[in-house]
Amino acid sequence: AAMDSGSARSELDVQEYEETLEARLGKSREMMRVVLNKAKSDPKRVALAEGTDEKMIRAAYQIQEQGIAYPVLIGGEDEIRQTAEDLGLDFDPEVADPQSGDWDHYADRLYELRRRKGLTKNEAHELVRRDTNYFASVMVEQDDADAMLTGLTHHYPSALRPPLQVVGTADDADYAAGVYMLTFKNRVVFCADTTVNLEPESDVLAEITKHTAQLARRFNIEPRAAMLSYSNFGSVENEGTRKPRGAVNLLHEDAEVDFPVDGEMQADTAVVEDILQGTYEFSELDDPANVLVFPNLEAGNIGYKLLQRLGGAEAIGPMLVGMGKPVHVLQRGDEVKDIVNLAGVAVVDAQNE
Ligand code: ACO
Repeated sequence: AAMDSGSARSELDVQEYEETLEARLGKSREMMRVVLNKAKSDPKRVALAEGTDEKMIRAAYQIQEQGIAYPVLIGGEDEIRQTAEDLGLDFDPEVADPQSGDWDHYADRLYELRRRKGLTKNEAHELVRRDTNYFASVMVEQDDADAMLTGLTHHYPSALRPPLQVVGTADDADYAAGVYMLTFKNRVVFCADTTVNLEPESDVLAEITKHTAQLARRFNIEPRAAMLSYSNFGSVENEGTRKPRGAVNLLHEDAEVDFPVDGEMQADTAVVEDILQGTYEFSELDDPANVLVFPNLEAGNIGYKLLQRLGGAEAIGPMLVGMGKPVHVLQRGDEVKDIVNLAGVAVVDAQNE
């Protein structure tokens, strides 16, 4: 009702809103263009685990047409080709059909990897034939594909578990984490961890920070990291604030860390220049942070969603960092453009392998 008080006012609001939206989308498109152009310069094979899904097929079409990647749709071949035709998509995608053809070598590999984790030979054969997340994970683990996308039709944890079990983490990693890149009118921030680790200890937070900083560099952004908390540099002392502070100590002792990082600090300290340069001028951060590391999964997941919806940011993600091979787990309900964007990110990851 307050908006009705003057029509001139609300027209102005609308105009301002549209300009902001345009600026924000411009920034976000620019960020993705960097990534998609890198991808196109050397496209890689990306396994789409949910190959029969309509959105995946539409995304595969765009990915192939634009030369971002060579998509491999995993699933029933007849169904995939029929769906593509029904959608009016004129392309001939590569399909890997777990139900036909000889995939015993994938089942054998899965068995080899998991037999000391309670998996039987029969179960391995069943999983490869019936669960495309396992099929795609083994395909990537065996280098028959360079990257994998999944998650549209599964709950996030169940889509994530097969790649965690089969592909595992990178040599320099013990933990995977989910990062969202949020683009605003004048800035970009990377939020972590938003999807994986429930209650990370200091060493986990430190690792997540390093991997998120590396990811930022893939987008040509120089990272400045803040370890977020409800406390500013020791202003509150308890178990909750000790973990992020411990992470900062680990990172400050780590000779590999070549970006500014500090904390623990409150979220406004992290993003407001005046606070950083005023009260906390001793901080390693002179400029607002663009890598925001949340103290736990609740804070991270809630925080990025509030930023996205109320702050009006464009979100790209969740991008998994720390994995042995590029694997990204989408959220249910993600759109074709989200899949295409993550395929681009996965290809750039694969180029760096
Ligand atoms: N990083 C890397 N590997 C991991 C991690 C991790 N953080 N956690 C578990 N693993 C590995 C384990 O080592 C194990 O490997 P192994 O079997 O070879 O030893 C494998 O993954 C499976 O481990 P489990 O213990 O069986 O799996 P768990 O039940 O702990 O599940 C999971 C792991 C799925 C990541 C779990 O921690 C989880 O559910 N996290 C929260 C996910 C979530 O709900 N996110 C929020 C919503 S998602 C969204 O908004 C997009």
